[in-house]
Amino acid sequence: MDLNQLTGNPTEQALLAELIHAGQEHLFAGWDAPGIHDEAKAAFLQSLARINGSYPGGLTGYISNARKLLAEAKEGKNPFEGFVPHQPDKVDLTQFNAAYDHYEALGKNQFSKTAVVLVAGGLGERLGYSGIKLDIPVEVTGITPYLAHYAACLKAMEARMAKPRPVPFIIMTSDDTNAKTIAAFEANNWFGLKQEQVHILKQELVPAIADNAGRLALAEKYKLILKPHGHGDIHMLLYTSGLAARLAAQGIEHLLFIQDTNGQVFNAMPAALGVSVEKGFDFNSIAVNRIPGEAVGGLAKLVKGETELTLNVEYNQLDPLLRATVSPQGDVPNEQGFSMFPGNINVLVIRMASYVKILERTRGIIAEFVNPKYADAAKTAFKSPTRLETMMQDLPKLFGPGEKTGVTVFDRRWAFSANKNNIKDAAAKHAAGGPPESGATAESDFYLAGRMKLAAAGMNVETAKEELILGIPFTPGPRVLLRPSFAMTLEEVREKIKGGSIAADATLILDGQEITLENVEIAAGSALVIKAADGAKVAVKNLKVENDGFELVKLSAEEQNSPATPEYLRLRGYRIVNR
Ligand code: UTP
Repeated sequence: MDLNQLTGNPTEQALLAELIHAGQEHLFAGWDAPGIHDEAKAAFLQSLARINGSYPGGLTGYISNARKLLAEAKEGKNPFEGFVPHQPDKVDLTQFNAAYDHYEALGKNQFSKTAVVLVAGGLGERLGYSGIKLDIPVEVTGITPYLAHYAACLKAMEARMAKPRPVPFIIMTSDDTNAKTIAAFEANNWFGLKQEQVHILKQELVPAIADNAGRLALAEKYKLILKPHGHGDIHMLLYTSGLAARLAAQGIEHLLFIQDTNGQVFNAMPAALGVSVEKGFDFNSIAVNRIPGEAVGGLAKLVKGETELTLNVEYNQLDPLLRATVSPQGDVPNEQGFSMFPGNINVLVIRMASYVKILERTRGIIAEFVNPKYADAAKTAFKSPTRLETMMQDLPKLFGPGEKTGVTVFDRRWAFSANKNNIKDAAAKHAAGGPPESGATAESDFYLAGRMKLAAAGMNVETAKEELILGIPFTPGPRVLLRPSFAMTLEEVREKIKGGSIAADATLILDGQEITLENVEIAAGSALVIKAADGAKVAVKNLKVENDGFELVKLSAEEQNSPATPEYLRLRGYRIVNR
């Protein structure tokens, strides 16, 4: 093949030569003569150069990784061959007790050495929201978008440091979410954060692969098929950007990895961080109890000889593995009805020192896998092009005997409630007995966490009866929003709230660090909303609150289907009206 016919640019020629050497001549076969379709050719060459630059090891590295993984997949190699599952090393924090307080206090001390990493490059196809998920309000009483809530948590962490310093906030975006994420920050004055503390890293798509030889797939002449590589890209980007090493040099000791729509995550964060500190976990999975067979990955310690690996095992692999080894009945419940293998919710606390070393060693390529759907029994052809993928929770696959992996188990709705499903699918999931993970359930659980905090402080909380809204369960009240500025730990809530009561459909919103309530009674349907500026002390004592409050109003069928109704209301089926 005459490279001069393809491009006159020596850098491009070098890349093409490499690709041809790596068995990719089909990409350049049948090219039109110079002068014909030159723009399409130039765009194609640029896309090759861009991908080559973004993947450690370049395109040929990607192709050789693909060949190796495809050969293993064809062989049908069982990754768990010879491994025996055991319970992981876990700390149970499902109850609020002295241990919980102990870990929260330790975690709070660690805020100044922690950075938060948010993976937000996903398409959100199941939800089908037209914008980015971070823009969706987690609750519609005060209307707080996820991104605003996370930013408020970071600011609250900073306000609790002996020597306040901004918490680094790393956000992974993709071509689907990048522009809108930046626009959200810009439209909201960076939600009160300093622009310098926010680091946006955009993940790139990877080329699809057509066959076992690792030939890249073309959508048409001069155009590759590109596909998402998965949220494990965050590790690669933290390596290639040099950010992990820079943050380590600045004294950051732990990274908290979170997802785009889990409004509960900062409830569990302080205690989980405390566990990481005390137990010296290099990798701490924040987990929840799961019922055997539930479609949630189980965290297990896999042992083979001297090798021990604690990792997420997909539920459909866990049961057969158990049957083939230690438990002929498969995944069986304990006395509480839960599996011995807690559910992975993909919230991770990773110790920086070991992380940076692993990134250096692997160049950030973390446990890639491939999952081709074969067209024939001999596994020689694919039904459609495949690609390499990576998941952020797979990091421990690279751990050696020196690294410690553990699990911290929390009450499920305290730690996790995502907004992943559109209203129809969420109702169907509920009907089938599973968690709906919808806008309404995420909001319902957001208020629940507030109620749990009030109850932990000894307030008398009367809970409303759960009802179904468009087939999705929702507990309408009381709607309790203790903003991060008000409290980040249970101890803080206990210090600030003494006695009092709140009725089933009442509302309480507390925003500000120096608010205290003593014997405050909020009557049915009423609301108490206090916003205290930084430095302002607001003490409320012996107050009976009776007013018109807020009201939950279900959308009419017409409103539900009308484009004039905000999409964030239509995805939950109600609005909350300030009376
Ligand atoms: P989800 O499982 O929620 O997937 O991702 P998704 O792609 O956002 O939604 P669906 O499957 O299309 O409905 C878990 C987390 O990982 C992020 C998501 O943004 C979410 O926070 N993610 C996922 C990425 O950052 N990049 C990816 O390539 C995939």
